[in-house]
Amino acid sequence: MSSTKTSSDSAFRAVIAGTGSYAPDKQLTNEDLTKMIETSDEWITTRTGIKVRHIAAENQTTAMLATEAAKRAIQQANISAEDIELIITATITPEMVFPSTACFVQDMLGAKKAWAFDISAACSGFVYALSIAQNFVINGRYDNVLVIGAEALSKIVDYKDRKSCILFGDGAGAAVIKRGDKKGPRGVFYSTSGSDGSGWPAIHCPAYGSRYPVSKPLENPDYIYMQINGREVYQLAVRKIIETVDDCLVNCGLSIKDIDLFIPHQMNARIIESVAKRLELSDEKVFINIDKYGNTSAASIPIALDECVRGGRIKKGDIVLLVAFGGGLTWGANVIEF
Ligand SMILES: CC(C)(COP(=O)(O)OP(=O)(O)OC[C@H]1O[C@@H](n2cnc3c(N)ncnc32)[C@H](O)[C@@H]1OP(=O)(O)O)[C@@H](O)C(=O)NCCC(=O)NCCS
Repeated sequence: MSSTKTSSDSAFRAVIAGTGSYAPDKQLTNEDLTKMIETSDEWITTRTGIKVRHIAAENQTTAMLATEAAKRAIQQANISAEDIELIITATITPEMVFPSTACFVQDMLGAKKAWAFDISAACSGFVYALSIAQNFVINGRYDNVLVIGAEALSKIVDYKDRKSCILFGDGAGAAVIKRGDKKGPRGVFYSTSGSDGSGWPAIHCPAYGSRYPVSKPLENPDYIYMQINGREVYQLAVRKIIETVDDCLVNCGLSIKDIDLFIPHQMNARIIESVAKRLELSDEKVFINIDKYGNTSAASIPIALDECVRGGRIKKGDIVLLVAFGGGLTWGANVIEF
């Protein structure tokens, strides 16, 4: 585990100055899925809470989704692309094997002064990226960091596999992290991140990397698609999310009552409800929008955060807790004062 705390006498704060999100126009409903696989709206809704997912067009790429979300965050932050010094993109569906998706986004935005890199941490990607941004900003190194979570998961989902294809959607979310001072809000004041590489079989996409290169015939043709053991992920997610929330509360000296809004990774509404019940969080403090997007991996938290900011769910002074769990295995959280 690794954590970063912005101390109360720190000269600099990592403040969320703008958020943005974007989802492709095309929608895939539960009804549509019943025509592709043996399933029902009732089964999907009861087990996952999902009704609709957004699907990228054939020529729409991860960097394009990321750039749209980023433009909206930059506009809300009232800065220009040229003010950005660092771009971190979290994704498991990158534009290419290399260069990084973040480099494509830098070019598409015209963020000429920024350096750019990707991180691969599956559904925990955005909270990992935000913790990196927090470090760079509170150290006084940068004024403006752009953090993005973006996915075109439909490109690696097997639409013949009813256990997984019902879950995932495409989209992007972004946030501008600005250097603030002691007079303003505390911003991202605690981040915690952890990994357990031994848990990789629970959720992964085997090809095409160096283990299963494109130059060799695949021993299983389905290796080009995401593989999940849903039941195992479900149980691990509930346990790890609760542990991660406890870590945040203990290290920040907070009680669960101090949290104004809980924005978890949108992996399954049942998982979120079960976690909220065990944490004794009341319904109005728990944000769920999985019904409209499905699970968008690294994009899910920033899309939800943007909806909360623009929809007035977050007020000045609120303490917001972002928590994620995903492939790797990875997990992490950020505690933010707005
Ligand atoms: C995927 C998930 C919804 C499956 O729910 P579940 O209650 O665990 O269901 P199971 O996989 O045990 O399957 C139960 C039955 O439903 C069937 N089933 C699976 N998918 C179905 C579908 N889309 N429609 C109808 N029936 C389905 C199974 O075949 C199984 O039937 P059987 O008992 O006759 O074999 C749930 O496990 C989950 O959300 N897991 C975590 C999600 C995840 O991994 N997210 C990515 C990481 S962030």
